[in-house]
Amino acid sequence: MTNNNPIGLFDSGIGGTSIWNEIHMLLPNESTIYLADSINAPYGEKTKEEIIHLSCKNAEFLLNQNCKMIVVACNTATTNAIKELRHKYDIPFIGIEPAIKPAATNSQTQKIGILATKGTLNSELFYKNVEKFQDIKIIEQIGFGLVELIEDGKINSSEMKDLLKKYLKPMIDQDIDYIVLGCSHYPYLIPQIKKIIPKNIQIIDSGEAVARQTKNILNEKVGFRNSDEKSTQIFYTNSDIKVLSEILKNKYKVQKKDF
Ligand code: DGL
Repeated sequence: MTNNNPIGLFDSGIGGTSIWNEIHMLLPNESTIYLADSINAPYGEKTKEEIIHLSCKNAEFLLNQNCKMIVVACNTATTNAIKELRHKYDIPFIGIEPAIKPAATNSQTQKIGILATKGTLNSELFYKNVEKFQDIKIIEQIGFGLVELIEDGKINSSEMKDLLKKYLKPMIDQDIDYIVLGCSHYPYLIPQIKKIIPKNIQIIDSGEAVARQTKNILNEKVGFRNSDEKSTQIFYTNSDIKVLSEILKNKYKVQKKDF
């Protein structure tokens, strides 16, 4: 089974490129269209209804570009809207959720930390996931302000450093040995986080798992691209082109579009 249409991805902004990187690394022959809805970031502070509305808008844009499947490269949109997306549209959707399971099953101290948005931590899907690990102490922390700083291109700022110290200290003090990054923006903070946490604490994010799952779905349901022509990687933002270009190390052309 072959299918030469692109894979669509969307996020509230530039963070989902951390997922795009993993997918592109695993599936370089696939064409992709990435949508950064930065004008509406952060999703994490919005109501469930607003997140569903924005997720449908993004999905429809990608469907109009003939995407063969959609990766919701945003934990907040997945935990609040994936059910509605799957119900409403007739193509496969892959979501991203905080990787609690590998952290909880491998933890020696039986204590793990999770850093995510308010929208993710307050969602029913997250609650159901956490409930499965009753004997593990899960220290939840909302990353207030982190997405905004990343969207402003301030990953290495002193404000960022101060916020991370504030959010991570209670987890370190409570002896966690894993920290789960439950927002697709946060993998870009790993170098800073490593400077703050002791070496025995491991950081987990969901990027690789989502890429593997994307490959499985292409294999089982959708079809891989089969063409001698080079794959195309398209990036759209409805806000500042520069921030998205920079996070992509200026390797790809970014186009501004109203969607
Ligand atoms: N990147 C997103 C996530 O994975 C959303 C962050 C936000 O817009 O609040 O949750």
